[in-house]
Amino acid sequence: MTGTEAAAQHIDTSRPHPARVYDWFLGGKDNYPVDEELGRRIHAIDAGAGRAARANRAFMRRAVRTLAEDGVRQFLDIGTGIPTEPNLHQIAQSAAPDARVVYVDNDPIVLAHANALLRGTPEGVTEYVQADARDPGTILERAAAVMDFGRPVALSLVALLHFVADEDGAHDLVATLLAALAPGSCLVLSTMTADFEPENVRRGIAAYAAGGVTLVARSRDEVGTFFEGLDLLPPGITSVSDWRPEDRPDGDGPVSLYGAVGRKPTGRPA
Ligand SMILES: C[S@@+](CC[C@H](N)C(=O)[O-])C[C@H]1O[C@@H](n2cnc3c(N)ncnc32)[C@H](O)[C@@H]1O
Repeated sequence: MTGTEAAAQHIDTSRPHPARVYDWFLGGKDNYPVDEELGRRIHAIDAGAGRAARANRAFMRRAVRTLAEDGVRQFLDIGTGIPTEPNLHQIAQSAAPDARVVYVDNDPIVLAHANALLRGTPEGVTEYVQADARDPGTILERAAAVMDFGRPVALSLVALLHFVADEDGAHDLVATLLAALAPGSCLVLSTMTADFEPENVRRGIAAYAAGGVTLVARSRDEVGTFFEGLDLLPPGITSVSDWRPEDRPDGDGPVSLYGAVGRKPTGRPA
């Protein structure tokens, strides 16, 4: 049996999983009735939830392209999700064909689809690690096999940390990962907030909780604490839809996820 087949055997279709609900919101096919049911319940509470998922994905694309064009050649993406084209390595490698990308997720459905994440440029590298974000030591050890931690790395935690509560180690895992990275490394982060639509978000969190999924909303100041010691790239911490927007196919206005990019100081003038 291949690793992919083994992973497929561990897919639990009796309860919703974040990666699959997100896939449903993005119009994907890798979800189950239980995920669709929760997606529809969230949509009934907040008709803008699909727009938020698409805006989040677009933020990831803009942030990764910005960093690749700025010279970053290594990307550690934790909480990758089910492949959705273009995937992070496709963005990074279209700007820098030699970019090295390590994907990490703890959901067996992502592992089952990891082949799509491993088709990169001949010059570059893509690797997949099945691991939990709350175990940063294992992630760093596995990533070190293909990455040079003496050179800058873009650490991407996009729509991940709202699944990790503070008491579950959210700050420790970010601090541990950043501590291992060289000056010039960057943190690309997006996470849910109730700052814009408190009632919808409160009801959405309750619907996820009823499905067995814990979600945490964070204020702008709370999101800022993940960037302590980093220099925020303009425009700082904004709704993901307002971070260097290009086109807005879904219309204007904030969505309920903050996004930002911060860089570890190099000691040299920027
Ligand atoms: C909403 S999806 C985001 C996917 C992608 N980063 C994006 O923003 O388009 C969240 C992903 O985080 C993963 N995830 C949640 N908790 C995790 C954990 N503790 N360790 C690793 N991955 C986790 C889920 O399996 C899911 O694939």
